[in-house]
Amino acid sequence: MLTRPRRLRNGAVMRDMVRETRISKKSLIYPIFIREGAGVAEEIEALPGQRRYSPDMLPGIVETVLGSGVGSVLLFGVPDVKDEAGSGAYVDDGVVQRGVRVIRERFPEVQIVTDVCLCEYTSHGHCGVIRGESVDNDATLPLLARTALSHVEAGADMVAPSDMMDGRVKAIRETLDDGGFPEKAIMSYSAKYASSFYGPFREAAGSAPAFGDRRGYQMDCHNRREALKEALLDVEEGADIVMVKPAMAYLDVISAVRENVNVPVAAYSVSGEYAMVKSAGRAGLIDEGSAFREIAAGVFRAGADILITYNAIELAGWIDEGRIG
Ligand code: PBG
Repeated sequence: MLTRPRRLRNGAVMRDMVRETRISKKSLIYPIFIREGAGVAEEIEALPGQRRYSPDMLPGIVETVLGSGVGSVLLFGVPDVKDEAGSGAYVDDGVVQRGVRVIRERFPEVQIVTDVCLCEYTSHGHCGVIRGESVDNDATLPLLARTALSHVEAGADMVAPSDMMDGRVKAIRETLDDGGFPEKAIMSYSAKYASSFYGPFREAAGSAPAFGDRRGYQMDCHNRREALKEALLDVEEGADIVMVKPAMAYLDVISAVRENVNVPVAAYSVSGEYAMVKSAGRAGLIDEGSAFREIAAGVFRAGADILITYNAIELAGWIDEGRIG
């Protein structure tokens, strides 16, 4: 007697039809680093294939993003000057604010998301104002809210607070509402773990803490229930989208959050995840492209609705080629 194959083996069309996870280009967000200066598009050594752009150079990369079919960008600022209070984060002519204006003017259709945090702007590299040796949560909230407001005033569609201060979603929501922007969205980095995978980002953005670490306000990798607690609180405070970060070592957290909240869940495949695959690929140890596709499929399979990734443009190309999605 012939054994019937357990899996459907009728070729590519069938395989595609019964696929359980679909990846859409519209679910991808591409991160962009903005630095001071003019005419600059410098390579980031720690993130092969990624660059820091001066505001005037942004149209080129945004055009590439939109041309690939990806509709959203996430902006990070890399200022020249930093101070104790991180004032570069919320001044009207800050590097992100200027970048947003340049993009908004040229591309009314692109969805602009901005990272809201102080760590790239503080001289000590922490995500909030420092009192003594630790971050002063409550003194930081108005500064984050001001940063968010200045981003939407410049034309951002959505702000993404990544600082992990308690109560910041509520503070930002109230400030945006009072400022006349009730329609602007908040994507909260709800479950942001204290992670070694942020290493290359800190080089890219020059934001490594000068003393101590971020364990006081970022989460412990041993905890999952705590992530649910954070995500639920953020939804209560007004988050439109909640995020889990990093992605690859936290797929169970993505699943759990997906099952417990009624808003979209984003996952951030962070700098270290990208750099790790890149260097293993360059060393000839793994096939870079298929590893990236496998990781992206895994994140969506775990339940993410949105993926923030340095691979967004490449992924869009692979979707076009039918190699993923
Ligand atoms: C800013 C911020 C960080 C990342 C996103 N927003 C760095 C950090 O918390 O140290 C990391 C992104 C990445 O590694 O790709 N707080």
